[in-house]
Amino acid sequence: MKKEIVEGKAKVLIDEAEIVSKGLEAFYNPKMRLNRDFTIAIIRAIENENIRIALPLAGTGVRAIRMLKEIPQFVNQIYVNDIDSKAIEYVKENLKLNNIKLKDEKIKIYNLEGNKFLTEIFGYDYIDIDPFGSPNFLLDSSIRYISRKGVLGISATDTAALAGTYPKTCQRKYFANSIVCPQKHEIGMRILIRKVQLMGLHNEKYLEPIFSYHFEHYYRIFFKVSKSKDKASQAFEKLNTYHHHCKKCSYQFSDENKHTHCPECKEEIIPTGPMYSGPLNDKKIINKLIFDENIPKEGKSILNRIKDELILQEIVGYYDTHNVAYAHKFRSKGMQEIKNELIKKGFKVVTSATNQTAIKTTAPYKEVVKACKNLE
Ligand SMILES: C[S@@+](CC[C@H](N)C(=O)[O-])C[C@H]1O[C@@H](n2cnc3c(N)ncnc32)[C@H](O)[C@@H]1O
Ligand SMILES: [Zn+2]
Repeated sequence: MKKEIVEGKAKVLIDEAEIVSKGLEAFYNPKMRLNRDFTIAIIRAIENENIRIALPLAGTGVRAIRMLKEIPQFVNQIYVNDIDSKAIEYVKENLKLNNIKLKDEKIKIYNLEGNKFLTEIFGYDYIDIDPFGSPNFLLDSSIRYISRKGVLGISATDTAALAGTYPKTCQRKYFANSIVCPQKHEIGMRILIRKVQLMGLHNEKYLEPIFSYHFEHYYRIFFKVSKSKDKASQAFEKLNTYHHHCKKCSYQFSDENKHTHCPECKEEIIPTGPMYSGPLNDKKIINKLIFDENIPKEGKSILNRIKDELILQEIVGYYDTHNVAYAHKFRSKGMQEIKNELIKKGFKVVTSATNQTAIKTTAPYKEVVKACKNLE
């Protein structure tokens, strides 16, 4: 049975039975509301007016309707597409429900395969890739058809591959090695960014991550495009990093070489990567998003964590305090105590944005272990 719900300024018809039976793969996924909130907020933060937006995987059309209702001042045209004719029926019904005419000059609807759809016009200022699973199948055309100063929003729900549960799939799809380790989600995002950037370089475009986060079952990365050759060359230098974590002693580090043994305890280690090693977030964008009143509490908390991490965001990886304590068989202190201790010794330290029990720090391994140890 279809039911009407409200999301932001849009009314949406949803099929509750489908949500129950298909869960995350239903046309309307309530768990992706924050994903849509952030998409609207990014377009507001970028402040490019008169933009042409492509939604190749539109589902129920809720994202398009929210854009038309919540940020009309930035929208020139929205191209809405889905391969499934049932989804297109939803899009049409939902537009009607929101008093948007099918012939509204700001919206055009297509029922094509996503790659074919993107060739319909040349150049979009914003493309949203929001698939079930991997964004791979649309990367090539999206990168080709995104405009020179455009923004690309990419979701990936295949975090199991990117974060090491299925390392073979990760190798095949993302040209990198992943393993399950305390740093797996930061690594997963960096592996995805590297793939997107390599494809960008192939198309003579530099795609700079301006907002990256992990939430529940997905990663979301927004990239800003530029055609600068200098930036592209610099970008290439940041695509060859390997991360290492030792299960035995918890030592972790990253560099451009693949190491097979832990420098601390000589245990065998498996390198993950290659991955992107540059910043995951743009300071100006994060500062704007933080003041967006339409971002809900869980979104604000993601943004606050990212804001805290900004000063050390170029450090790849982090120490998970629980993992350090487990490896050394002691009880860990609380996060704040650990951080205070390191700060007192003159090191910089922040909580990781992707792992709330982990620290990024300029302190060396031995100092981290000492600071984590609860002497009581
Ligand atoms: C996760 S849903 C999209 C949800 C939507 N973006 C939202 O915010 O609610 C993915 C959609 O992609 C569509 N799809 C899958 N493969 C496609 C393809 N190759 N071309 C176009 N659409 C495709 C599916 O029919 C489905 O509606
Ligand atoms: Zn070790």
